[in-house]
Amino acid sequence: MIEEIRSAADIVAVVSDYIELKKRGRNFWGRCPFHTENTPSFSVSSDKQMFYCFGCGTGGSVYTFLMKVRNISFVEAVNLLADRSGISLPEKEQSPEEKLARKKQQRLLDILAIAADYYQKNLSMQSDTAPAITYLKQRGVNGRVIKEFKLGLAMEGWDYLNGFLFQKGFAQQEIHAAGLVLPREKGDGFYDRFRGRLMFPIIDHRQRIVGFGGRVLDTSLPKYLNSPETQLFQKGKLLYGLSSAAVAIRQTGYAIIVEGYMDAIAAHQYGFANTVASLGTSLTKEQVQLLKRFSREVVIAYDADAAGEKATLRGLELLQEAGCRVKVAVMPAKLDPDDLIRKHGASAFKELVEQRALPLIAYKLEKEIAAHKIGTIEGKVDVVNRLLPDLERLDNSIERGQYIKLVAARLDLAEEAIYSELRRRSGQMQKNGTNRDKKEILRHNMDDDCPVALLSVEEYLLLRLLEEPEALDQVQDELGQDVFLHEAARDIVQVLQEWMGLNPDPPSPAALADLLPSGAARDLLARVMSKDKALGGSLQDLLRQIKISRLNKQVEERQRRIREIENVGDLELQRQLIVELTALQREKEFLKRSKQ
Ligand code: CTP
Ligand code: MN
Repeated sequence: MIEEIRSAADIVAVVSDYIELKKRGRNFWGRCPFHTENTPSFSVSSDKQMFYCFGCGTGGSVYTFLMKVRNISFVEAVNLLADRSGISLPEKEQSPEEKLARKKQQRLLDILAIAADYYQKNLSMQSDTAPAITYLKQRGVNGRVIKEFKLGLAMEGWDYLNGFLFQKGFAQQEIHAAGLVLPREKGDGFYDRFRGRLMFPIIDHRQRIVGFGGRVLDTSLPKYLNSPETQLFQKGKLLYGLSSAAVAIRQTGYAIIVEGYMDAIAAHQYGFANTVASLGTSLTKEQVQLLKRFSREVVIAYDADAAGEKATLRGLELLQEAGCRVKVAVMPAKLDPDDLIRKHGASAFKELVEQRALPLIAYKLEKEIAAHKIGTIEGKVDVVNRLLPDLERLDNSIERGQYIKLVAARLDLAEEAIYSELRRRSGQMQKNGTNRDKKEILRHNMDDDCPVALLSVEEYLLLRLLEEPEALDQVQDELGQDVFLHEAARDIVQVLQEWMGLNPDPPSPAALADLLPSGAARDLLARVMSKDKALGGSLQDLLRQIKISRLNKQVEERQRRIREIENVGDLELQRQLIVELTALQREKEFLKRSKQ
């Protein structure tokens, strides 16, 4: 089935949904979505149904691509691709309850998708002078983002959507469960929840429409109405625009978080495609975890009002705790990002985000200064005390020095006074015991554990084995059961062997990629597959070269040990090593001469 879904979609077409590809030679090329680059080194092969980036070394099958670009699991990637090709997956072995729940959820998703479509059609059918169109024009929203964000219109009336969905065969209860209608207070029946509103479908990171926000077209209240919280729609777990922003976040290396729907849309329209909105609520832990899967660098661009500032501080803490690097783009008073962009242009927003965004400590310093009377000693002490924990957290002493300088200057204090407060505080902390030292030691130990590098000839051998798995026996005879020491290469050989035990034909590269246990193994497979077999020479040649290089290693190792024990004077051991060394060198000579 997995194979069937894969072959129904060409990897080139799927990748083209995300990045622009151009054909050059046998492959297609584009700019890698997994690292920042200006010249395309991301290659996609239609023959092999694989991708590989010569810049960052990431590679794999169409499923690997979807998993990485959308941050989803393998199963989710299979589902996504099945959806794209219109293939319905057979029900897995599920309990009857699971089956029912899944089916119910799928019905709700269908309803939401159909509703979004319906709202979109409504909008597209409006005349140029209709209120919705006038409103969008007046706010400067262009056609491209209207389409990208699937904006729509709920018409003024009680029964438009409900009637439409009912006609499509959905039951009242289902439409209600999807959050699109409300029960009438008097009498039976239901009426449309969203009426006379501009509709913003909320799409999750798996590209499913899970709910809506609806905005009035005038100043009436409530300004926004959202879908009710359900299993599918949990505002605190979603980031508006993430589905459109995912690739750009990767490419730019950071994400911008704004508060509102319109902020996100304006940002996207003006080239900040790496923007998501936290939907008014202050950022939650779940939203941070979701975002972190795409980037650890974040710029918060919330409104400059009191609520926005509170949300900013809370967001800063959460992001910092989660290990992100956060900066704050401080909006001018009374402007949100949307207002700023429309009034002062994209360049003003760009400057705020890229040049003037304040790192955590600098931002906190400004907030604390605004909140305290820093003309007084008490005020200064308070501000310093508030900042000490953050200053202490900085590992880099240069960075710490810079901030201390800044704090001292802003408060008109001597730097030394802040240093001494810090020392006092860390003295106290040490008494209470921290485990930073332990962590340091652990990290060092891990660095020592250095991986075995894979030789280029070994890569050619691996390529050979992938194309002629039947050669594996001979290769194992000559190089030993463990053909490679390199872990990713061993994983590939193992999976290949398992496959050959069950199937008469060798696996396609893409199928093999999906069976591999690690990303490192998939990257290696993709790199190997991007090589030209002819450059490797014959199997005999490859084996010979590998043996020689392995002998070389052994020779070097003996030589090193002989030098080491020279001072110790253990003659017996020295003699033994020399015997081994001579034997190894003889073997090497023999191999070198054996080339006809
Ligand atoms: N919000 C909401 N319900 C409300 C008000 C706000 O869900 N009654 C959420 C929306 O996601 C909104 C965000 O909070 O986008 C920010 O609110 P606000 O700053 O008031 O709205 P803007 O996005 O600036 O809306 P607009 O520019 O359209 O007035
Ligand atoms: Mn606004």
